[in-house]
Amino acid sequence: MAPISIRNVKKNYGKTAVVHGVDLEIASGEFIVILGPSGCGKSTLLRMVAGLEEISDGEIAIDGTVVNQLEPRQRGCAMVFQNYALYPHMTVAENIGYALKVSGISKAERRQRVEAVAKALSLEPYLDRRPMALSGGQRQRVAMGRAMIREPKVFLFDEPLSNLDAKLRIAMRAEIRRLHRRLGTTSIFVTHDQNEAMTLADRIVVMNAGKVEQVGTPEEVYHFPTSRFVAGFVGSPAMNLLEGRVNETGAFVYDQGRIIPLPAQQGQALAGQRVVLGVRAEAAQLVSAETPGALPATADFIEELGASRVVHTDFDGLPVAVALTGTANCRPGDRVGILIDPQAIHLYSADTGASLAAPAAARLMPVEA
Ligand SMILES: Nc1ncnc2c1ncn2[C@@H]1O[C@H](COP(=O)(O)OP(=O)(O)OP(=O)(O)O)[C@@H](O)[C@H]1O
Ligand SMILES: [Mg+2]
Repeated sequence: MAPISIRNVKKNYGKTAVVHGVDLEIASGEFIVILGPSGCGKSTLLRMVAGLEEISDGEIAIDGTVVNQLEPRQRGCAMVFQNYALYPHMTVAENIGYALKVSGISKAERRQRVEAVAKALSLEPYLDRRPMALSGGQRQRVAMGRAMIREPKVFLFDEPLSNLDAKLRIAMRAEIRRLHRRLGTTSIFVTHDQNEAMTLADRIVVMNAGKVEQVGTPEEVYHFPTSRFVAGFVGSPAMNLLEGRVNETGAFVYDQGRIIPLPAQQGQALAGQRVVLGVRAEAAQLVSAETPGALPATADFIEELGASRVVHTDFDGLPVAVALTGTANCRPGDRVGILIDPQAIHLYSADTGASLAAPAAARLMPVEA
């Protein structure tokens, strides 16, 4: 197990800067997920930790040693990629044990360690098969086994599950989580899939355009996004975001003249400013179109999520998602009303996207007997 320090790390390709100075302290044994849209620099950052990409500026330390000048194999990292190429002519056992073979470890020890890894990954029945005779998930586990057998200080994952079908992806996610709980190896996992990030991470690092937007637990990033970008990126459905102005009486005025009340203190402090109002689907309530104070909208379509349902509405041309609770229901085309809980409103600066106000911390309480 090893802590990792990333200090003001930058990456340029010629004159193009793609990572703009990332600072991140990762504790020993922590599972960090780097989440962000395509092209934001996730793989580049990971590859700089692995030593596969030169660092343009700044410093990376693994287990207290600055590794900027170290070769990939001297860094103690094992990497699992999206396109894991297994050796097709070797059996599963030979694939897993290959790294030990090339470093001259005896056959007896090799066999013992391969068996231990195969057991951890439930691969024992397949040890004599070749990769061609395995399912996608089994191949993925062999790739993990090849990384695990080296007993690395650090695991680096770059979208390792994105080639798998949806069901298998969820199963592998759970397996990686369990494995991490057992081995406790410091891990960095790159993905653009927020569900993956939410399930796996001790802490999520949200990246955008080469910069870190927010670092926090899944709970923090979901409930208290500190920027407009994070609010709009994390969560399914994404947070509803409405741009407008706070008037002299401290109420939010949406551009078409609709008024949404704000908590008194927040509204007064921001009077006169242009802001973006954010509200999650579950903090909005669907009511009849005639309800006093409700925002008038038209139901567009209903998203069945199994355990919950979300109605996507059209509010003055803007899509607004509302979670349906209890027996509330509607049909596409219905005129509906939306009530927003003022205590659940997030406000962001319309200029910089920085958080101006967040709901009073509604902490999630542990379940107690
Ligand atoms: N060799 C290169 N030369 C110039 N630009 C590059 C090079 N490699 C990557 N880039 C650019 O760096 C940026 C970050 O790329 P990176 O691969 O880190 O993105 P990513 O966040 O991993 O995206 P994805 O989710 O699509 O994998 C991109 O805009 C990419 O075009
Ligand atoms: Mg990538």
